[in-house]
Amino acid sequence: MEIIETIPQMVAWTRHASKNLGLVPTMGALHQGHLSLVERARVENASLAVTIFVNPTQFAESEDLTSYPRDLESDLEALKNAHVDAVFVPKATEIYPSGYDTWVDVGSVSSKLEGEWRTDHFRGVATVVTKLFNIIRPDAAYFGQKDGQQSVVLKQIARDLNLGVDLVICPTIRDENGLALSSRNSYLTAAQQREASVIFRSLVAGREKWESGERQADVIRGSVEQVLRGADLITGIDYISLADSETLNEVDVISGETMLSVAVRIASVQLIDNVVLG
Ligand code: PAF
Repeated sequence: MEIIETIPQMVAWTRHASKNLGLVPTMGALHQGHLSLVERARVENASLAVTIFVNPTQFAESEDLTSYPRDLESDLEALKNAHVDAVFVPKATEIYPSGYDTWVDVGSVSSKLEGEWRTDHFRGVATVVTKLFNIIRPDAAYFGQKDGQQSVVLKQIARDLNLGVDLVICPTIRDENGLALSSRNSYLTAAQQREASVIFRSLVAGREKWESGERQADVIRGSVEQVLRGADLITGIDYISLADSETLNEVDVISGETMLSVAVRIASVQLIDNVVLG
């Protein structure tokens, strides 16, 4: 496995990679969720690159970039065991050299949900992913459904900018209690992580209502809220959304494919999760 730090070296590596090149972009602190993407990408591609880059431009000022979990040594070990061919680990100045001033600004889908309070978050994600695609030119790139809105934003840029990359959105990986795996879970105590399974239980309650034939979005949102309000652990609910899976417009009555998503606070940590209905 090659470990590459500069753009020219990464470009040189991709020239020799096979035509069928898969990419898994990450911010490191890898957990089983990331590794499930790597495993799938490994099966589906002749060459496989992973990027580890804690992208500063997607952090809000209120979020602490320096305390974001990092564990490069164990990440590299896990990627080597997963038979990854190359890992791109650029420094921030490699991606954003002095004078850098070009941004990929996605419209409507990036301003909703997470975008309402994390202003510029998706601009940072869209910009870095576009840059990584331009540097590596993968045939397919793998992302988790857990970051549901991120997937919608990335599909929008892939379509609008003709990126020519097949985006593969993979199922959310959960712990034994149902909590979606996320690097942010490491900010919680073990007891909080156990109790945070209420987030998935609330989504399941909503999904069960839908499965029993309910189509009024407010009724489903209400059943999710009832479960969340019953948990002392949850200190705030940022949103309970039932939105069209492509436009992220909130729906009144569920007809087509709809994403039921929530963002809640546990102490000061925000956790998000979603399930797709239909
Ligand atoms: O999902 C992530 O880990 C990040 O948002 C991504 C896609 C690697 C861009 O920095």
